[in-house]
Amino acid sequence: VNEPTVYVGTFIHSPRDDACKLDICEKGAIGVNSEGVIEFVERNIEELSPVLEKYPAFSDATIVTASPKGNQFFFPGFIDTHIHAPQYPNAGVFGSSTLLDWLNKYTFPRESSLSSLSVARTVYSRCVARTLAHGTTTAAYYATIHVPATNLLADICSSAGQRAFVGRVCMDHKDINPEYYRDESADESIANTCLCIDHIKKIDPNYELVSPIITPRFAPSCTAEALEKLGKLVKETNLPCQTHISENRNEIQLVKKLFPEYDSYAEVYDAFGLLTPKMILGHAIHLSNKEMELIRSRKAKISHCPASNSALTSGGARVRWLLNSGITVGLGTDVSGGYSPSMLEAVRSTALVSRHVAMTDGEECKLSVEEALYLGTRGGAKVVHLEDKIGGFEVGMEWDAQLIGLELVEKEENDKEEFADDEVVDKVVFDGPKGAGPVDVFGWESWDDRVAKWVYNGDDRNTLMVWGII
Ligand code: GUN
Ligand code: ZN
Repeated sequence: VNEPTVYVGTFIHSPRDDACKLDICEKGAIGVNSEGVIEFVERNIEELSPVLEKYPAFSDATIVTASPKGNQFFFPGFIDTHIHAPQYPNAGVFGSSTLLDWLNKYTFPRESSLSSLSVARTVYSRCVARTLAHGTTTAAYYATIHVPATNLLADICSSAGQRAFVGRVCMDHKDINPEYYRDESADESIANTCLCIDHIKKIDPNYELVSPIITPRFAPSCTAEALEKLGKLVKETNLPCQTHISENRNEIQLVKKLFPEYDSYAEVYDAFGLLTPKMILGHAIHLSNKEMELIRSRKAKISHCPASNSALTSGGARVRWLLNSGITVGLGTDVSGGYSPSMLEAVRSTALVSRHVAMTDGEECKLSVEEALYLGTRGGAKVVHLEDKIGGFEVGMEWDAQLIGLELVEKEENDKEEFADDEVVDKVVFDGPKGAGPVDVFGWESWDDRVAKWVYNGDDRNTLMVWGII
């Protein structure tokens, strides 16, 4: 429980139902009560005292002010809808592999090392700290097959105050998974998943901060028996579920070979009762029209992972097409298929990959900075069914936010408009980074332009503060 707090300054977020623009509120004040819930949002205030008089519960509130110079603003926390925490040490290391050989060469050996709880502690605490530093207040994590390490990840998220969905991965298929890293049977997969659910229930009975998420790794890694049992578990528990779909063409061929009785990859999940509104499908690059329609009709959600899809040369997901079809889309870093734990990078690569898709599929496929930011906040909130709590600044929602700071370049005091013909310009000395992040903004720029520069040039140095669950 915290002091009531009023946050004062510029607030920028996406409107709830309009991905195409940003709501930019200069001179705003947001009152957050001791439970971390927003009680008021005031716009265009000239002075704070009338606001504090209007809301007596905030008369002694702590005041947190963003710089009024136009180089700082409050923004919602990012929601990473697909990230593999045990793969964090490999972020940026993928050589020239594609999905199936990458799994065997880089991923399974790395994940299997988390059988050691001390390795798990080192990797998970750094992964959670690093994603928080990048402004990720909510993450849907894939863990490993190991129960103690998965439980530890839940504990670490809980103590760090990062909202998290923590999934023990299920992978019992003997022909696909290596002997050194797999579940020995479908029953073991389910039993160990249940142990992790029980642990999280113990540390967070109402799943306020940390929730279990049922995680069949992807169809090829699971036997039909395991998929069927996991589908039943989803139904019994009403827990969320996550997996991968249609990421890579060889993977799709493998699914055809392993499940010849189904017409498509999406139908495999549907046949086992896994295609529900609580399913988060990672990637969804090469879907057929029929699969897209099936996913839409089941209200399953999609996590778009553009940095990963570029790194592993998986392809460019047709996000405009998914959105126009009425499917809910959020963004994921997919570390370490994705090279970066930064959701800002996921936002940036969403915009860039959409430009590549536009080169073949048409101009309308381009996603704007506003749309990409929407997907990283409001879109992600819908994917994890928390759209009434996080992803924007509205009364009744939680204060789930980051303070963004950009470097303001100010004019020299005695700058002259003209130079004499014979005047020599002083030698320009580069005095190095100021430590305030890599984005320079100038006095004449609009907020829209400053935000675009943050998206294309920014990094975690621009995330000055992060507030999530308290
Ligand atoms: N498909 C199955 N497992 C994985 C994984 O760990 N990462 C990615 N990107 N795709 C997968
Ligand atoms: Zn993944």
